[in-house]
Amino acid sequence: MDNLKIKIILGSTRQSRFSDKPGAWILAEASKKEEVSAELLDLRDYPMPFYDDSVSPAMIKDGAYSNEVVKKWAVKIKDADAFIIVTPEYNHGISGVLKNALDSVYAEWNNKPVCFVSYGSVGGARSVEQLRLVTIELQMAPVRNAVHIMGGPWNLLEENGKLKSGAFDPYQKSVEGMLNQLLWWARALKSARKQ
Ligand SMILES: Cc1cc2nc3c(=O)[nH]c(=O)nc-3n(C[C@H](O)[C@H](O)[C@H](O)COP(=O)(O)O)c2cc1C
Repeated sequence: MDNLKIKIILGSTRQSRFSDKPGAWILAEASKKEEVSAELLDLRDYPMPFYDDSVSPAMIKDGAYSNEVVKKWAVKIKDADAFIIVTPEYNHGISGVLKNALDSVYAEWNNKPVCFVSYGSVGGARSVEQLRLVTIELQMAPVRNAVHIMGGPWNLLEENGKLKSGAFDPYQKSVEGMLNQLLWWARALKSARKQ
């Protein structure tokens, strides 16, 4: 079976973030799939400037972005067959750092599927709805199923900040459905990109 490269993007870079907990969990879940090689992309490792270029990323060819960090980011995005975005909800929207990372490159996102793991008081549903619109404009294919971790992340942590045991167990079925849809699209679009 063809190898599918899945990149998992952490949507928060703030100190004491929750993002890395669902990130580590979904990395482990995706890695269980035989055909998948999954990699975590931490935006802390890609400190891109707030987008300020004179030309739109949509005009840039062959990864020739002017900023060196953006160039490295573009190489990683180009390497992917599919994405899982782990997203918080900030003021009913997505984080600034995630939007900036999405805006900073263009062609490398095109014709690839994406799915979402979100969290917040209503499971990050509002940030995922925004991401669906943004990723369509990047010519991506957002899949229907998502994992919405409900009830506020603060309720899933022990007093010492560690994740409560079994905190993500209720989402085992929804993660399976989401990954199956992502892999279907990843196979189909990988084949189509070769034509
Ligand atoms: C600036 C800011 C705005 C927030 N707005 C929302 C919100 O609109 N809805 C929500 O469910 N949680 C909101 N929260 C709470 C977050 O769900 C919670 O802090 C979560 O841990 C943020 O993700 P992170 O820790 O990975 O950065 C907000 C948090 C911050 C810092």
